Amino acid sequence: MPTFRAPRGTRDLLPDERAALGRLMRLGADLAARYGYRPIETPLFEQAAVFERGVGEVTDIVEKELFRLAPRTEEAEAWALRPEPTAGIVRAYVQHGMQTLPQPVKLTTTGPMFRYDRPQAGRYRQFWQFDVEAIGDPGPAVDAEIVELGLRFYAEAGVSGVEVLLNSVGDPACRPAYTALLAAYYRGLAGLLPAAELDRLERNVLRLLDSKDPAMAALNAAAPRITDHLCEACAAHFASVRAHLDALGIAYRVEPGLVRGLDYYTRTAFEFYVSGREGQQQALGGGGRYDGLVELLGGRPTPAIGFGIGLDRTALALAEQGGAAPDDAAPVAVVVGADADDTVARLRVATLLRAAGLRARADLARRKLGRQLEAAGRDGAHFAVILGDGLADGQVQLRDLQAGTQRQVALDDLARELARAEASHRHG
Ligand code: HAM
Repeated sequence: MPTFRAPRGTRDLLPDERAALGRLMRLGADLAARYGYRPIETPLFEQAAVFERGVGEVTDIVEKELFRLAPRTEEAEAWALRPEPTAGIVRAYVQHGMQTLPQPVKLTTTGPMFRYDRPQAGRYRQFWQFDVEAIGDPGPAVDAEIVELGLRFYAEAGVSGVEVLLNSVGDPACRPAYTALLAAYYRGLAGLLPAAELDRLERNVLRLLDSKDPAMAALNAAAPRITDHLCEACAAHFASVRAHLDALGIAYRVEPGLVRGLDYYTRTAFEFYVSGREGQQQALGGGGRYDGLVELLGGRPTPAIGFGIGLDRTALALAEQGGAAPDDAAPVAVVVGADADDTVARLRVATLLRAAGLRARADLARRKLGRQLEAAGRDGAHFAVILGDGLADGQVQLRDLQAGTQRQVALDDLARELARAEASHRHG
């Protein structure tokens, strides 16, 4: 028999990990709703051109990491798994004429993304993002609001020490002159550039700044900085974003080398890091303004901004910092019985409790009562409902496994009794 394994770079999220992820997904959805974002779901795959055009042909994400699906016929569309949600959401915004709705249209999604990255801790080929997008707002106030929303997510998730790195990457008015300057700088260093970067120099010089090649770090540190070459409008926008953040009391670090790995960004760009871990290129999340993307994907010119938070990395950071309280999966009650063979009675009573909204389980193994009670204890159950001779008269024994007490309860009152006991237990 072959030994099957999960594909390289993917993980099975076993119940504890899945519960931790679920908690973060619920937190994201609740927070987004608090800030006025409405949920949207787009397909996990799109025409590859949505990403090629949206994210950019000459980016790591499209050039090296796109999961392209093999076409089924000669004529078939070229599909790709989504490496990120923004391009698909903007595609949907255009397709469904959302520019006719009151602007901004504020959308949120949470789900798996796919990148054929080199797998390592915190870098997976299937990973989860919590994403928000405010489409149709030129900022700068919403830029600050979105950064604050990101920080609130980490704070409520329980991750401490999250730092904001902030930059402006300019716009089509000022960027061409800057990229020309940048290209001239790197051409002067051509002999020192790794081959892949030399190749990109003439095709998309900005991407050299977010190269993952360690050989580039020193060269990039000395490169001309976009913030010294912003046009007046971009400089004013950037100053105002910072003033809004200052007014909210949000600390951030201006990082002139921060350009992000996707081509669609204009003006505001930001990333979230656990302090001291920036060097490992393991951002917990990132985002920025993308004022040209709606038009690039066929819509009217529409300003927009958003972020994506990596939930796998957030969960890792949480675990490293001591972790969040695990979800309480223990049943309130386990139904056990003196008659090992009477699984019908046990199942019937557990069904009754679950229909009443209680977290209950029946012991369906045909084993001695003592064994059933031991298993209930191992499950962390608060109560055991013991079925015995009294059942014929509608009576059961309710044993509090934590207090070690036991009393008789009428079957008709059982659900109510358990709900009451559980509520007073929870509230102290
Ligand atoms: P991104 O920076 O490419 O931005 O990804 C956002 C976050 O996803 C990263 O900061 C990281 O936490 C997580 N992430 C990325 N790749 C991986 C991976 N291979 N394994 C684990 N986690 C990963 C975007 O995707 C943009 N769509 C964000 C955005 C939304 N900009 C505007 N709106």
